[in-house]
This record gives sequence, C-alpha cells and structure tokens, in this order.
Amino acid sequence: MHDKAFSIYLEEDAILEGVKKVAEQIHRDHAGQRVLFLAVLNGSFMFAADLLKNYEGDCEISFVKVASYHGMSSSGTVSELIGLTENLEGRHVVILEDIVDTGLTLKKVYLSVMQRNPSSLKVATLLFKPDAYKGDLPIDYAGISIPNEFIVGYGLDYDGLGRNLRNIYKII
Ligand code: IMP
Repeated sequence: MHDKAFSIYLEEDAILEGVKKVAEQIHRDHAGQRVLFLAVLNGSFMFAADLLKNYEGDCEISFVKVASYHGMSSSGTVSELIGLTENLEGRHVVILEDIVDTGLTLKKVYLSVMQRNPSSLKVATLLFKPDAYKGDLPIDYAGISIPNEFIVGYGLDYDGLGRNLRNIYKII
C-alpha cells in the first residue's frame, strides 16, 4: 500500500471478539440506561457499526470529528470538535474511538463533551497503544491492547488507503 509493505496482524474474528467484549462490558455497566454513543470519525465507522450490532441495550449514536489545522497559536496546531449538535445534559455518553495512540484526540473530544454536562461519560476504544499513551484520562473499555506499531485496516488508514480492509495489518 503506497510505498510500504504490510503483514497480517489481527484477523477479522479476533477483531470481532474484541468488539463483542467491549459491547458486553458497556452494556453491563449501563444496565437500564439509554446510552448515547459518540463515534469519532473517520476511523471509528467500522468499529461503531459492529459494536452497535452487538449491543443489546437501548442506545443512540451520533458522529463527531476532530478537525486539526495550523492556526495562529504558539503551539502550532489547533484542533476543533465538529458535529456535536446533541444536547448532552443528563445523558449517558460513551465515546467510541478506533484507536487511542498518544490520547490527544481523545482529550479534545472528552473535554468538549464534559463541558456539556452529561450524566456520565465513559471512553471505549477498539485498539489501545499503552506504550504511546500520554494522557491522564481513564480508558474505560479497551478491546485489544497493541504494541506501539503502525497498523491499518478495519477503518484505520495509511494516508487515506486501507480503511476498507476486514483484517488489521501492521507495517513491516
Ligand atoms: P492520538 O495520537 O491518540 O491522538 O491518535 C490520533 C489518531 O491517529 C487516531 O484516531 C487514528 O485516526 C490515528 N492513528 C493513531 N495510530 C494509528 C495507527 O497505528 N494506524 C492508523 N491510524 C492511527
């Protein structure tokens, strides 16, 4: 893909096992509640679809996106959360991430959601790179922990390509 070679890392079955585990854990912790899933695009679309197919409680879903651009701040890059039109007051919100790497994207989403006073807020990610994580927010539900390597497939891209792959591949 592009200029790089990849080898298989996680097969579809193993991925779906991780998805089901997360769906069951969220359901167990939200018994009797209506959950609002907030999926962070683009990468989480496949995870979100499979997670909802395996979620047995009442739930709704909405999609948000973190837009990064080089602004005029001293730090260089500014990020903004777009697409959050829902009233979150009194809601039980679960953020859905495809992967948590450094945790910067998650932090942006988490703080923006918190400002809107949800009743509860949890974080779910399919993939987690503990060795790369620099955040202090708890990752409440992590499907599969992986080493600090670049992966592609199942919604995740390498420079735009690979999101359609059913398995996950790592760079070699
Ligand atoms: P962060 O470093 O936790 O903010 O991760 C930011 C975003 O980078 C994720 O939501 C993914 O879209 C992307 N990303 C992080 N690690 C990988 C990877 O190994 N493959 C493809 N995309 C990744």
